[in-house]
Amino acid sequence: MGKMVGVDLGTANTLMFLKGKGIVLRAPSVVAISKSDREVVALGREAHRMLGRTPEGILAFRPIKDGVIADFDVAAKMLRAYFEITGSISLFSRPTVVICIPYGVTDVEKRAVEDVTYQAGARSVALVDEPLAAALGAELRVGRARGSMIVDIGGGTTEVAVISMGGIVASQSLRVAGDEFDEAIVEYLKKYRDILVGNATAEELKLRIGTAHPSLPRGNMEVSGRSLRSGLGVTATVQSDEIREALERPLTAVIRTIKSTLEQTPPELSADIYDFGITLTGGGALLRGIDRLIMEKTGLRVNIAKDPLECVCKGIGRIIESEGSLGDLLQIRQR
Ligand SMILES: Nc1ncnc2c1ncn2[C@@H]1O[C@H](COP(=O)(O)OP(=O)(O)OP(=O)(O)O)[C@@H](O)[C@H]1O
Ligand SMILES: [Mg+2]
Repeated sequence: MGKMVGVDLGTANTLMFLKGKGIVLRAPSVVAISKSDREVVALGREAHRMLGRTPEGILAFRPIKDGVIADFDVAAKMLRAYFEITGSISLFSRPTVVICIPYGVTDVEKRAVEDVTYQAGARSVALVDEPLAAALGAELRVGRARGSMIVDIGGGTTEVAVISMGGIVASQSLRVAGDEFDEAIVEYLKKYRDILVGNATAEELKLRIGTAHPSLPRGNMEVSGRSLRSGLGVTATVQSDEIREALERPLTAVIRTIKSTLEQTPPELSADIYDFGITLTGGGALLRGIDRLIMEKTGLRVNIAKDPLECVCKGIGRIIESEGSLGDLLQIRQR
């Protein structure tokens, strides 16, 4: 009998949950391949370090973009390798896989996730809506007749969903999340500091000194980049306030999406959300002060889920461990 594995195949990170074991993998969704034969030369953290640094002949990239499959073959190879690393697959047994898909993607995009999973060696594949998994992982009581709102800010997309009685009642997805935050930092430094930095440096600035709200403790960080004036390498000290200004625009887009999802929500359920607040998941929830900013701009109470990077995977794990009692949340297609 094959193993049962849960997969959160994210734009930035892939997580896996093995039935009976818990979370067994947390790795960047990055692959380095050789250009000549498209064989994998590095994966995960190692490949992530190569982003923007590869020599001729090697290509390091993310096969998932905005939550959907961007490079089918490479995504399948990455998934296969992660099945092997975690012991989910062996010569003699292929796993039953529960994998999430962003809500509101097209049937073709759904099908691609399914096909990639089969290509990676799955025996059967069940799909689950990502916001539901996130809500379960954040320990929201999704089965109740009460509206709750989950806001998952990942690498590629921000998904906002209102859930009641185990189903999604209203939802919106925005292709603005962590990657766009990094991009906004790159653009800001180009415009106001005349310095070009790479996306990895921008991400580091966000993680180390980034804040979303002016009330938070500030810091600064020295970065290296290329001067747009002289074309030469330079270093610059960047302040928290600059990162906050840079992030203002993408964060406003996130807040606008929260508000407009609320407007689509039937009144009884939006009243629940005003009573109980909203819950943030995904890596973006870790941006310092994001809860305070959203609270001020929407008037809603904002909770940050415990271990926001792991919520989706934990939620899939709960479905797997529930032995079918949460099975209504799955769309199983066997082949
Ligand atoms: N402490 C932090 N502060 C701000 N951002 C963070 C922090 N930690 C991680 N992130 C950001 O979170 C993002 C990754 O989050 P996550 O793993 O939830 O995305 P994903 O699930 O791979 O993407 P998606 O759900 O969009 O497909 C990255 O952009 C990363 O920079
Ligand atoms: Mg995600």
